[in-house]
Amino acid sequence: MDIQPVKKASTIRVTIDSLALGGKGVAKFQDFTVFVDRGVPGQTVDAFIYKKKKRFAEARIANIIHQPPDILEPPCPHFGMCGGCLHQQISYEQQLGHKHRQVIETLQHIGGFRNLDVSPTLPSPDVYHYRNKMEFSFSRQRWLTPDEIQSGNPIDRKDFGFGLHVPGRHDKVLDLQLCMLQSDTANAIYRTVKQWALNSNILPYSTVDHRGYWRFLVIREGKNTGQLMVNIITSDETEHQSTYALRDELLHNYPDITTIVHNINRKKAQIAFGDEEHILHGPGYIVERLDDLQFRISANSFFQTNTRQGERLYNIVKDWAAIQTLETVYDLYCGTGSIALYVARQAKQVIGIELVPQAIQDAKRNCDLNNIKNCHFIEGDLKDQLRDPAALADQFGRPEVIIIDPPRSGMHPSLPARICELAPGRIVYVSCNPATLARDLQLLCAEHYALQRIQPVDMFPHTPHCEVVAYLELKSN
Ligand SMILES: C[S@@+](CC[C@H](N)C(=O)[O-])C[C@H]1O[C@@H](n2cnc3c(N)ncnc32)[C@H](O)[C@@H]1O
Repeated sequence: MDIQPVKKASTIRVTIDSLALGGKGVAKFQDFTVFVDRGVPGQTVDAFIYKKKKRFAEARIANIIHQPPDILEPPCPHFGMCGGCLHQQISYEQQLGHKHRQVIETLQHIGGFRNLDVSPTLPSPDVYHYRNKMEFSFSRQRWLTPDEIQSGNPIDRKDFGFGLHVPGRHDKVLDLQLCMLQSDTANAIYRTVKQWALNSNILPYSTVDHRGYWRFLVIREGKNTGQLMVNIITSDETEHQSTYALRDELLHNYPDITTIVHNINRKKAQIAFGDEEHILHGPGYIVERLDDLQFRISANSFFQTNTRQGERLYNIVKDWAAIQTLETVYDLYCGTGSIALYVARQAKQVIGIELVPQAIQDAKRNCDLNNIKNCHFIEGDLKDQLRDPAALADQFGRPEVIIIDPPRSGMHPSLPARICELAPGRIVYVSCNPATLARDLQLLCAEHYALQRIQPVDMFPHTPHCEVVAYLELKSN
């Protein structure tokens, strides 16, 4: 007999208490946990249960019964449909508080850590227009808004969508007028590309038949240098004349664009990443400046998307690592070498390891650009590069400090043990996913390391994403 109070496909009335990691509202219904999509703490809602598990249910809002008095009017015209900024209705101060609590709870629940001293979330200097990179997708299935459907008017060009994916739908795209996380110039470029591609009468790529041309647009901006990259990603080169014509149109309208690249992704995987790159204008990369360091960024390289908050993040890493002149540092998942360059001037040497060849090239050039000569970069998968830690230490020296900055999936399961074998005195772990951070810290701290400091850093205001820096020290036996 099902004695749980919540049934699938039923509607229940709940009050949202808090925000879960990932951004859903959390409510209790007779002590049973219900995660409510787009729920705001303080709201009372009728929630329709669309999924039920043993320990929790997931629901969407059917009706809002009561709004909290401090709820804000979201400034973005696409709020409610776009999945990017879920929290525009919540004051920024409250957003920071929710992220702080989420980090503590995740480290407790997943990592088993107790009595943690977690610093308050470091606010971002800018809460809108902070992104230096945005990725937009083309689709042959435009998401139709409720207004369009209800109007009863004939719907034009349903087969052309360009914007951001609707949450949970990898096939459908919400057409945008603007995104408030990027600059006005980037929004204007986005609209020009949209109009151009629409008028081209060339079909967007479809994940259904894997035909069509336009796939993605990526706009990158050096916030401190003003340099601008437009990266057009298509499925092949069949319509390259049209891509050249788009380049001319862009340069005519936006002479400040410093580089335009055309990437070709022939694979089925829906990623804005090219296997083949053609430079259509300028040098094929942009340069961004963080503090007094310059970074060359190519189309396929990772770079922190919030420039001004990125500077603060790297300064925390540098301060916590507290590197001495004779120390060797390993920078794992080093990308274009941003962290390596931040700490290189204090260290004897920095060894960076990274999977993406273009990022390694950028890292080496970044050293040249900044006249830094004590970094060495290794291209490869970390699970292979760290397979024999003793051999690595023989070749490059045993690290006194290891800095880790993995993707959302965290470290490969073999790595915590390998890092413990290398036994650096200090570890600084930068994470964009508190859940995988908690998992990895638990392994590192099982025997060898003590978790000393934790600093959540808000890189992405209004979104549920949460960046955290953790500092660990080797336990003395
Ligand atoms: C969050 S980024 C950090 C980059 C860099 N530390 C920075 O701040 O710019 C993670 C990096 O890990 C790299 N990466 C992902 N999987 C990897 C793997 N298995 N081995 C090595 N590097 C990997 C990605 O290409 C990306 O550059």
